[in-house]
Amino acid sequence: MNERDLLIFEQEPIPEHIVKKMEECKKKGMIVPSPELIKRPSQIEKIKASAKINTGVLDAVEKAIHVGMTTQEIDDIVSSYTKEHGAICAPYQYEGFPKSVCTSINDEVCHGIPARLRKLHDGDIVNVDVSTILDGYYSDASRMFMIGNVSDERRRLVMETKKCLEVGIKAARPWGTVGDIGDAISKYAKSKGYSVVKELGGHGVGLEFHEDPFIAHVGKKGKGMVLVPGMIFTIEPMINAGRAGVVIDPYNNWTISTVDGKDSAQFEHTLLVTEDGIEILTY
Ligand code: MF3
Ligand code: CO
Repeated sequence: MNERDLLIFEQEPIPEHIVKKMEECKKKGMIVPSPELIKRPSQIEKIKASAKINTGVLDAVEKAIHVGMTTQEIDDIVSSYTKEHGAICAPYQYEGFPKSVCTSINDEVCHGIPARLRKLHDGDIVNVDVSTILDGYYSDASRMFMIGNVSDERRRLVMETKKCLEVGIKAARPWGTVGDIGDAISKYAKSKGYSVVKELGGHGVGLEFHEDPFIAHVGKKGKGMVLVPGMIFTIEPMINAGRAGVVIDPYNNWTISTVDGKDSAQFEHTLLVTEDGIEILTY
């Protein structure tokens, strides 16, 4: 935690009625977030500004993406747009990640690494996962793109994965729990004949890239950490056409793919819990 945020925590305390409600939840045996997971007004403003650039990056990619483009060209767009807007690409050198964005194609689930030799082919589906730092504040979102003529099967996977994110967002509410989200997503995905990746999930975000809580996309209603107004986290379901299992690329130690080689899709938003609902920051 840096000095600036420590000062903000002192100067902008958690509102009294929220502290009270958290204490009640704790008494009932529920898991409540630690105070630094509850963002204060000035931090929320900064994270919103970061998220605005993040959305701009994804819009720029959406405009430019086409058959025959390389994933390195996507990386170039992401890094130049981000820099032009005074921000930093969070993935770059994050735990040694070599590029500025993740590009995950077809059976790649996440953490695909952009490369000069990797072209987008007609019929591919690709996830572009953008994470932005502005003035030290983080935002994180991803979208799927369908390249050229995509099969009905792939199109359905992409559409239903988007629906999974929407269903997860609808299930999230102030004073609900993290488990409500995974419960809703896993039930919806299963009803469509898909499986949900369990090893990776959403996460608190804002002051750091990855904060608590871990947002599993499977779970039980009413279980897990309470969602308190001021919390900011991602929902980012990874939905597989086949089995849920995943493997990590043994050569680059980053890229996660489906174990059965079938397709996977993902959408992600950064969300703020408010007193009366959920606000999507990465629209
Ligand atoms: N954006 C991914 C997430 O949602 C993180 C990628 S980390 C990276 O958590 F460094 F590999 F980019
Ligand atoms: Co994320």
